Amino acid sequence: MKTIGVLTSGGDAPGMNAAIRAVVRYGCENGMKVLGIRRGYNGLMQGDMFEMNLRSVSNIINRGGTILYSARSPEFKTEEGMQKAIETAKEFGIEGLVVIGGDGSFRGARDLSLRGIPCVGIPGTIDNDIACCDYTIGYDTAMNTVLEMVDRLRDTTESHDRCSVVEVMGRRAGYIALNAGIACGATSILIPEVEYDFQRDVIDRMRKTQSTGKKHFIIIVAEGIGGVDEMAKRIEKETGVESRATTLGHVQRGGVPTVRDRVNASLMGCKAVELLKSGIGNRVVAMQKDEIVDYDIFEALNMKKSLDLDIYRLAHAISI
Ligand code: ADP
Ligand code: F6P
Repeated sequence: MKTIGVLTSGGDAPGMNAAIRAVVRYGCENGMKVLGIRRGYNGLMQGDMFEMNLRSVSNIINRGGTILYSARSPEFKTEEGMQKAIETAKEFGIEGLVVIGGDGSFRGARDLSLRGIPCVGIPGTIDNDIACCDYTIGYDTAMNTVLEMVDRLRDTTESHDRCSVVEVMGRRAGYIALNAGIACGATSILIPEVEYDFQRDVIDRMRKTQSTGKKHFIIIVAEGIGGVDEMAKRIEKETGVESRATTLGHVQRGGVPTVRDRVNASLMGCKAVELLKSGIGNRVVAMQKDEIVDYDIFEALNMKKSLDLDIYRLAHAISI
């Protein structure tokens, strides 16, 4: 393939820029013309794209967000939208496309692949909810952001002998909640993957630790469960511990990407170019057991991810 496109789609994630940089630089190094497509599938439908060169990606490896901007594009999901995207891709001579995004974006890539535009997906989402990957770009930075925010909350929570009930992102997945919850020493972690009983898993657990002298508490709740305001009220009523709810929200999506996100995004970007250069499309690049691998895009979308329940058990075993 001589001309490839690159776009970022769905929720942005820190490290996406490092992936773009790698695609552009490695693509150019391999004699390819690389087109940067703005605002995800919207830009593909509208022909909003430009040729990138080695210098177009200078000074971006350290920046959160995405220099190509991102979008959620309902129009692209329609047959007319898809046709428009294919026509534009052909008009610009795009022979292969790198799609950096989550599983929704990969579904779009799968549909384009089925219609003759070979795509390679790179997992970019803070949620870490892509089945074929142990790790997605942005997840590490998001967890570190949660950690920093909860450490700050802990200061004030401790000073006032309070309970902080904190909602973290993750859409329907509990990866951020579980791992950031362990790292910030949460008394209780509630995630969608595990059924919970509020009385047993929060109130009784708090009472038990209160009886051993604990006076302040952090409860981490995944977005997929939600309801932190009501939880804080119930905790206050039932335990007598003054409680506050905090929803961390979109701060979790921004910020300087961590080493891990930058390195993995860079390696994944190179892998995507290698695949397209060899004429291989319809793949998803993934990180598994610290190795960069690739999967058939259809197979990847049919895989199921399961969270390690033993980690969940251990997290609570040490938070008493
Ligand atoms: P993410 O990629 O982070 O999961 P979304 O689910 O919002 O984010 O998907 C991003 C975009 O991918 C959507 O706005 C849409 O244009 C496209 N997309 C999502 N789901 C599909 C689908 N089932 N078929 C085709 N395109 C899709
Ligand atoms: O997929 C990333 C994510 O930040 C999820 O954690 C969250 O549910 C969603 O996107 C928020 O979407 P939006 O930016 O459209 O509010």
